[in-house]
Amino acid sequence: MSVVEKMFAKLGYVPKLRDDKPGAPFSLYSYKKADGSFDYEHYRKIQEEANILKIESVWVREGNIEFLANYLKRNLGAMKFGICHGTRRGKEQEWFRKCLGVEVIGTEISSTATTFPNTIQWDFHEVKPEWLNAVDFIYSNSFDHSFDPEKCLNAWMICIRPGGLCILEHTSGHEASGANELDPFGADLVLMPYLIATWSKGKFAVREILDAPSHRSNVKYVSFIVIQKL
Ligand SMILES: C[S@@+](CC[C@H](N)C(=O)[O-])C[C@H]1O[C@@H](n2cnc3c(N)ncnc32)[C@H](O)[C@@H]1O
Repeated sequence: MSVVEKMFAKLGYVPKLRDDKPGAPFSLYSYKKADGSFDYEHYRKIQEEANILKIESVWVREGNIEFLANYLKRNLGAMKFGICHGTRRGKEQEWFRKCLGVEVIGTEISSTATTFPNTIQWDFHEVKPEWLNAVDFIYSNSFDHSFDPEKCLNAWMICIRPGGLCILEHTSGHEASGANELDPFGADLVLMPYLIATWSKGKFAVREILDAPSHRSNVKYVSFIVIQKL
């Protein structure tokens, strides 16, 4: 059990399986083989199947990326390299590149990755050695697809250079009630800074939470959690 799981277990929440405790503010779906061990192949298969089914759709909005690009310019100044995680059709890296004029790539676990420009087929829980401390900013609206959010956020933040920023898009659809086999992690927005502080162990911190200028009608809100590497 991780520190966070132990803490929630003490409070009476069982975060591993959302159905164990409906109404818990934090949910993490478990992909388990019959023997109880982690079933990575099943996770991957579920993600790829859904990616192929939804391959025509784009969630991210251009106006929101322009808004974030301006925020990054104001707060980071000159930039060289950014990464977007879980990008399907790769629109976020396309729009960041257009706004910032710097190298921005996307990661995508599905084999469809290679059909989109500036996108690599890659599981975002893993880190390439050349990314370590070398990334000015990370953006993702796919953090809810992580099977291990503590490992995942630490993998992203170890790539951010000191002072650099990671922006997690968090919507009403990313709440605990939204977690399932496809979107294994869900947490209520108010809990996110607490989880991030617990996972960070002093290495990074929430700098601010921004309201997105626009959102689709099927979510109640879109917020951007801005995390800074200390
Ligand atoms: C909710 S969709 C968002 C797609 C895109 N960002 C958009 O706005 O349209 C999540 C995407 O993340 C991908 N994904 C899921 N798990 C991943 C992982 N571990 N590593 C990289 N990509 C992943 C999925 O295949 C899917 O295309």
